[in-house]
Amino acid sequence: MLCIIVWWLVMLWKFCWAGDASSAKHPQDNTRFEKYSFNREELKHYKEETKKLFYFAHDNYLQKGYPYDELRPISCVPKTRNFADPDDQITNDVLGNFSVTLVDSLTTLAVMGDKSRFASMVGLVEATFPNKFDIDSTVQVFETTIRIVGGLISAHLYATDASKAVYLGETYSGSLLDLARDMADRLLPSYLTMTGLPVPRINLRSKFDPITIELVHENNVAAMASPMFEFTMLSYLTNDSKYALVTRYALNKTWALRSELQLLPMSFNPQTGQCYSQISGIGASIDSFYEYALKGAILFDDEELYKIWQDAYSALNTNSRADWFYTNVQSTTGQLQTVWIDSLSAFFPGLQVLAGDVEDAMLKHMLTSKLWDTFGGIPERWDFRGSPALDAKDHLTEEELRSLVPLEWYPLRPEYVESTYFLYRATKDTFYLNIGVAILESLQTKFKHQCGFGGFQDVTTGEPQDRMETFILSETLKYLYLLFDVDNELHSARDNVIFSTEAHPMWLTPQVINNYKSKKYFNDTTYRKHLHACRARDGGSAFSDKKKTFMGGKLLGFAKSFFNLKQDQDQVAASLSQGLAGIKGQTALAHPRTFPHEQMCYPVESSNGKPQWLHSRILSHFDRLFEIDRRYNTTLIKPGHMQQEVPALLRRGFYDRWAQKSAKSRPAPTTESFEIVLDLPGECQLVRTPDGNVHRNTLGGRTKIRLEKIEPGLIDIYGRHVDPKIFTNLRRKDLFKPNCDKIDSLYSPKMLYRATMINGIYLPAGAALTLNQSTVFKTQSEENTFRNLFGQNRYHQLMLDCVPIINFLLQ
Ligand SMILES: *[C@@H]1O[C@H](CO)[C@@H](O)[C@H](O)[C@H]1NC(C)=O
Ligand SMILES: *[C@@H]1O[C@H](CO)[C@@H](O)[C@H](O)[C@H]1NC(C)=O
Ligand SMILES: *[C@@H]1O[C@H](CO)[C@@H](O)[C@H](O)[C@H]1NC(C)=O
Ligand SMILES: *[C@@H]1O[C@H](CO)[C@@H](O)[C@H](O)[C@H]1NC(C)=O
Ligand SMILES: *[C@@H]1O[C@H](CO)[C@@H](O)[C@H](O)[C@H]1NC(C)=O
Ligand SMILES: *[C@@H]1O[C@H](CO)[C@@H](O)[C@H](O)[C@H]1NC(C)=O
Repeated sequence: MLCIIVWWLVMLWKFCWAGDASSAKHPQDNTRFEKYSFNREELKHYKEETKKLFYFAHDNYLQKGYPYDELRPISCVPKTRNFADPDDQITNDVLGNFSVTLVDSLTTLAVMGDKSRFASMVGLVEATFPNKFDIDSTVQVFETTIRIVGGLISAHLYATDASKAVYLGETYSGSLLDLARDMADRLLPSYLTMTGLPVPRINLRSKFDPITIELVHENNVAAMASPMFEFTMLSYLTNDSKYALVTRYALNKTWALRSELQLLPMSFNPQTGQCYSQISGIGASIDSFYEYALKGAILFDDEELYKIWQDAYSALNTNSRADWFYTNVQSTTGQLQTVWIDSLSAFFPGLQVLAGDVEDAMLKHMLTSKLWDTFGGIPERWDFRGSPALDAKDHLTEEELRSLVPLEWYPLRPEYVESTYFLYRATKDTFYLNIGVAILESLQTKFKHQCGFGGFQDVTTGEPQDRMETFILSETLKYLYLLFDVDNELHSARDNVIFSTEAHPMWLTPQVINNYKSKKYFNDTTYRKHLHACRARDGGSAFSDKKKTFMGGKLLGFAKSFFNLKQDQDQVAASLSQGLAGIKGQTALAHPRTFPHEQMCYPVESSNGKPQWLHSRILSHFDRLFEIDRRYNTTLIKPGHMQQEVPALLRRGFYDRWAQKSAKSRPAPTTESFEIVLDLPGECQLVRTPDGNVHRNTLGGRTKIRLEKIEPGLIDIYGRHVDPKIFTNLRRKDLFKPNCDKIDSLYSPKMLYRATMINGIYLPAGAALTLNQSTVFKTQSEENTFRNLFGQNRYHQLMLDCVPIINFLLQ
């Protein structure tokens, strides 16, 4: 032990003196580390810097913003509810004139372990709401739930949990829970509709009184399903199960509105269940539906919710998963619907980490990091088609640049740092710490204004935004702090800690769970009658067990679409109309990787007197680091204000230290790929073996297979030259169909197909897709239909248009 400590001291000493004069040290703090060594001292330094930023903004809010909802960071005046125009929804949905910044930021103080400030803010909250939330404000139910109800519940958990640094003990009266309950009681009437789905807005004092039809006729899936999470927590803490039951009924009902592909359209009339927008995806309007299905399943140990998550996630992967992001698709057909993705979807990799899909989370997060490196923030919407104008010239006019970002603002949303935090916790790869440092530096330089933080009004011009939304203090800075605070008490908590969609940590102790089981009650007659009536209208049918019928139970046949690397507008238009757009030659990590855990001491050994550093695995072994730059080179165009900026991963000190010198980039594929879709009645069940093979015993559900056309001399999606040997000694003769080559001779074709992806799951190089001959066909007619689409040769390979698919086997 001693020996190791001495070695560390020597190391530290060396690093402090080894750098040249320009290397980034922090003399003002007297810290002893070299930048990007990421030792504990350095992480502590970043943690403290993040804390300083939080206090800077929090102090300013208290002095110049409170008791109003927000403080404007540039003009230093409160941003209030628009009292003059009650119909100004954009402002008034969130700003209920209820000091929302104060309430939403309570748990950031708790996470930072600042007991004295936490206690005084709890006192301030108590003093601010002597009449609870008896305020004449019409607000959005969802936003108010996640910011106010969630913020109060989580702060209450901290205040009452003796294992936490900010535990308030006897001095705390339970006031936060009372306030949360008061707010929930004011919001809950929004669920009293014929369907049981909530209307989006309600007046805190007089319920529906001043509300016009325009304010309540449309609600989205996230807003209808998500309050279940905070409200179920509230039931656990109060023993009153009405909160859980009413909101869970609405979640069930929302899920029942899904299409036969198990995809949820985003927008409905909550009073009738009529669908307004058929688009499905993972971004705005739907994001926290997935989030809370999984998080609720974990926190409440709820298998039904887990089933919803699994079905929803697998439908997404089949229909909406592209290589670097999820696209928005039509919920009944799975067809591509928009050519943009939105910034809110950047949360999804964090959720994938929670689901155990770290591999794909890394890919999806990579795109967000490229957006950040290009625009300096994440545009609210980004168009992935690219600019055709770039074919003719080498730079874009301002207007052309603007067209790449259909919505141009970036209000310092937290989703990128949130995913970065989860990925760091899962991989311990310094790649993610480095991103955190880049975000921290942007906050310190670009986004810090006189009185707080403001993002970009327009990422293409760098024009700042004079607004500090509450999530900057409650989420963005909290996740950044937690990224650097590796020893935070949350990281070693005994109970399952789950972050709400507003980053409020939630947990249940065994004692609370047991109390609730034995003491829960549901005696509020209004809501009892309401649920009873809703269930009666459902006709006793368990609507959430909706069965897929697949258009009368017939095989739909298949759709087939080709796609190309060069995505000019015509081609995208064509693929949009065909329904399946995609891109040529992309694949996931060829081999699942395992990551070492708990590696905080990065330097591993010292041979010949020099420290040997572990490498960042991503920087050194992920051979697709620059694929996005190449693939989207006509849309990831740096605006003027970003010209001088170096991408985070290429910053000198970081790259030099953490990249292995032999790191290679995979060459761009020159093959073409296309996808086929097969729809059959029943559910889709895939079995993935550890070596990457995918096996199926049944054919039901939707099967989407990506095929690569391989020819000698081309480079395949795995970055390899296609091996000419695989073209020899193949059989073309179809066992079932006479129309292919009539002579069953061995032949050497010029082109073959290879399956590279099924339902969003990548097949690694060498892996196969196998169907169980004895079980896949349920009826003779099903087999006949299948045989009409695919041929089969003597090697059990299925054939498409008489071309063998070399790794798609029916055996
Ligand atoms: C809004 O809040 C402020 C500060 O608490 C209060 O003085 C004012 O009366 C409120 N306005 C309305 C319309 O409720
Ligand atoms: C819920 O029930 C438990 C067990 O009886 C009790 O200790 C707790 O105080 C109750 N909570 C509330 C808010 O009434
Ligand atoms: C929601 O659906 C699940 C699964 O079908 C069911 O067990 C549960 O009782 C439903 N909850 C409510 C409140 O209707
Ligand atoms: C509902 O039940 C709880 C717990 O048993 C009780 O404290 C409360 O007074 C009851 N409320 C009504 C309206 O009966
Ligand atoms: C994008 O990449 C392609 C292929 O490497 C290249 O031909 C084209 O010039 C690039 N376009 C831009 C705008 O950089
Ligand atoms: C194929 O199905 C049969 C019948 O259910 C089963 O015995 C066999 O194990 C399956 N084969 C594979 C490879 O799963």
